[in-house]
Amino acid sequence: MYINCRVCGGNVQEFVDLGRQTMANGFLRPEDVEREYFFRLAVGMCELCTMVQLLEEVPQHLRYHDAYRYHASGSESHRKHFAQNARRFMESELTGPDPFIVEIGCNDGVMLSTIAQAGVRHLGVEPAGNVAELAKAKGVQVLSEFFDLATATEIRAEHGRADVIFGANTICHIADIESLLLGVDVLLGPDGVFVFEEPYLGTIVGRTAFDQIYDEHIFYFTVRSVQAMADRFGLELVDVERIPLHGGEIRYTLARPSKRTPTPAVGDLLAAERTRGLAEPETFERFGHDVERVRGDLVTLLREIRAEGRRVVGYGAPGKCTTVTNYCEIGPDLVPFICDSTPSKQGHLVSGSHIPVRPPEAFAHDYPDFALLFAWNHAEEIMTKEKAFRDAGGKWILYVPDVHIIG
Ligand code: SAH
Ligand code: TMP
Ligand code: ZN
Repeated sequence: MYINCRVCGGNVQEFVDLGRQTMANGFLRPEDVEREYFFRLAVGMCELCTMVQLLEEVPQHLRYHDAYRYHASGSESHRKHFAQNARRFMESELTGPDPFIVEIGCNDGVMLSTIAQAGVRHLGVEPAGNVAELAKAKGVQVLSEFFDLATATEIRAEHGRADVIFGANTICHIADIESLLLGVDVLLGPDGVFVFEEPYLGTIVGRTAFDQIYDEHIFYFTVRSVQAMADRFGLELVDVERIPLHGGEIRYTLARPSKRTPTPAVGDLLAAERTRGLAEPETFERFGHDVERVRGDLVTLLREIRAEGRRVVGYGAPGKCTTVTNYCEIGPDLVPFICDSTPSKQGHLVSGSHIPVRPPEAFAHDYPDFALLFAWNHAEEIMTKEKAFRDAGGKWILYVPDVHIIG
């Protein structure tokens, strides 16, 4: 099957199908299981601009609403990273008279709260009302809308143009990327920068991190595809930087053409992507086989553990765990519950697989033999916090980049 590319209109050829799936951050109440939304989770690459993207999509108002369950401030390492980001902007792009920064998808204010505390003019654009309220409680100015051309035009009329437009783990969520980029063009000042940090296709393919593929992630960026997208919409990719979040992301900086000299990092990463064949069909064919192998290994291991009468509990219920449990058909029979520190996920069920989510105390109260780490991108933080589990003989199961046990 193919669709037309959301960026350039070219043919998008499918390369992996993760089957019938639901919304990654669905987290149902037990009484709502009858009303689940299903779609086919399949990914393809555009033959013209190489943008990798979902073939089918869930409407955005079903994904982002007043009960959105992802709270960006949930992890210590994320809080540190975004506070650092804010300081970096205040020392570089936001030093002129009365600077202005707009964040697309500010969530609970994890980045903008630092900007607000410093008294710098800012605006968060956040459609999910519940997390927008959390940001407001931290003193952040928030417009509770979807960012698009119309919203950008409104913001410009009210506040003027922005020195920085920022987005983290949000730009790849926005299916109407054309409206987004036209909005950026309207709102960005002549010398401004559009900076975004997003999951990297190179990490997903290189580490077989197929759990990063879910309904909210419409696009899977590479330096090459982002550069093509920037060119098409009259912007220039002037810097790229690897960052450690979510297992290895890239921070892209776009500016108006000829305003900044691109850093050597852009050419270096483009060359590395060429060497790795990151836009080659064979690479995706291999990825498809790797994904199947991980599924086979993980299910075999969980069945063996069950056959031996030992217990496994899931640790961390990120959106990613929805893809893994549904694709591998792991239900409460293999993993009776997953513990997670996010209060709004607790007492709910993972969509599709219906594994209950419980508070971390449920884990500590009665240690299992194994903990399956769905929040693998927070491995260090979690394993440090849960040191007593290993001291008591407990073992961690990881499935990225392959299935292995840490004990
Ligand atoms: N920036 C945070 C949150 C990422 S979650 C972090 O990096 O951790 C993605 C956020 O984008 C959600 O809060 C969602 O409600 C928001 N979002 C989705 N579509 C959007 C749009 N069109 N405009 C602005 N925000 C959007
Ligand atoms: P993320 O990978 O999208 O950041 O989501 C991580 C999930 O893991 C989130 O639901 C919170 C949860 N979590 C814990 O339960 N305990 C922890 O110590 C950490 C860091 C995260
Ligand atoms: Zn394209």
